[in-house]
Amino acid sequence: MKRTLIKHVLSSGNVNDEVLVQGWVKTRRDNKGFSFVEVNDGSCFGNVQVVVESSLAGYDVNVLAAATGASVTVRGILVSSPGKEQSTEIKAVEFKLVGDNGGEEYPLQKKRHSNEFLRTIGHLRPRTNTFGAVFRIRSVCAYAIHKFFNERSFVYLHSPIITASDCEGAGTMFQVTTLNLEEAAAKGKVNYAEDFFEKKASLTVSGQLEGETFACALSNIYTFGPTFRAENSNTPRHLAEFWMIEPEMAFCDLRGDMEVAEAFIKYVISYVLENCADDMKFCNQWVEKGIIDSLTKVVTADFGHLTYTEAIAALEKSGEQFEFPVHWGMDIQTEHEKWLTEKHVGRPVFVTNYPKEIKAFYMRLDEGEKTVSAMDLLVPRLGEIIGGSQREERYDVLKRRIEECHLNIDEYWWYMDLRRYGSVPHAGFGLGFERMIMYLTGMTNIRDVIPYPRTPGNIAF
Ligand code: 4AD
Ligand code: MG
Repeated sequence: MKRTLIKHVLSSGNVNDEVLVQGWVKTRRDNKGFSFVEVNDGSCFGNVQVVVESSLAGYDVNVLAAATGASVTVRGILVSSPGKEQSTEIKAVEFKLVGDNGGEEYPLQKKRHSNEFLRTIGHLRPRTNTFGAVFRIRSVCAYAIHKFFNERSFVYLHSPIITASDCEGAGTMFQVTTLNLEEAAAKGKVNYAEDFFEKKASLTVSGQLEGETFACALSNIYTFGPTFRAENSNTPRHLAEFWMIEPEMAFCDLRGDMEVAEAFIKYVISYVLENCADDMKFCNQWVEKGIIDSLTKVVTADFGHLTYTEAIAALEKSGEQFEFPVHWGMDIQTEHEKWLTEKHVGRPVFVTNYPKEIKAFYMRLDEGEKTVSAMDLLVPRLGEIIGGSQREERYDVLKRRIEECHLNIDEYWWYMDLRRYGSVPHAGFGLGFERMIMYLTGMTNIRDVIPYPRTPGNIAF
């Protein structure tokens, strides 16, 4: 007999169906004459309740040994349940213990464990309610992202993971090498000509520059892949390895860029609310109270718009005591971002036209040459979720900016070439995938929305 996922048993099973389910025991209660076993297979939030009579063959060795965490195979008949927790349950015809706990205590007991503790058992945490919900939502969110771009004829581009260029120019890259570090240290110098690529190579911080070359040929592209940053920031919002979605659009300016970003965020929220109802209900009750309501409001609200200069003026007038004092020219910190989106605007807000000194070299210089056509999307609870810009498409201006930023112009010859042949205004942005999952689920630490978090000093699993 073929296995049925519990998701399908619960959503489309009919009374009297014969079903075979397989999963892990959540709880077991033994009464006189029969046992109730809650089984979950991770295909959905819900468990299926199995009723096993003590007269069933092998009851003692299979059912009475099936402790929380054990894996089981159950064949039975779907019957309507007298209990008020569920409408149907399985009356077992056959109950087989597949893998027991060897008599040891299962690390996941019925009580609620802290997310910090669960990080120390990263291999078992997907079996909890919270992490099951988060990772099903993560999967549906990824699908929604592809669906959004596919429906709009964007081409999905696989940008390289190993690169020789530093997109953000921030010098926070992981080096990729096959050189023997001890030998190099003994020699006192490194000869990159002897390295695998015969030059210095790194893990990418962004697929944007490669994305631009393809947008300047295929019009609208997006990347969706892992990116790596060796910045030493131990915050609840930063990972050393995270996933980013980077659309890039030819013949597009900053306004068009923000229109796509707003439609994109709203589409993904709607899709997840619609297709992850049970998991979102759990998040609404146990992770972030009221999150369904607040996300539903975001879908219909117009996002706010502020220039950097307006944002700084508002922060200066706010009367708030910030840890980092506010002045024109400073980098807007998380505390400022949160105030702007939560208190000042009360919904997601685009902040645009930042001073050129605090943004990357490729952003288009505004008139007056003090600011660039950049945009960050700030959202309540998180601050920055998207960073993007219109790109500098003017050859001479770009050359000047690369020099001003002390970057090696020879490394960017191919990027400059895009501005020599058929240059076009173009724009794009990057959405931090894990930040989006935090936004959707209400989880407050980014380590809890990626399967295996990598942060400074931590690569535990
Ligand atoms: O603002 P960022 O650095 O922008 C870029 O990388 C551009 N190349 C994007 C583009 O225009 N194509 O990063 C984009 C987003 C941030 O808004 C944030 O959500 C996320 O990526 N992000 C991180 N997420 C987790 N951990 C980190 N260390 C992150 N750094 C950035
Ligand atoms: Mg940014």
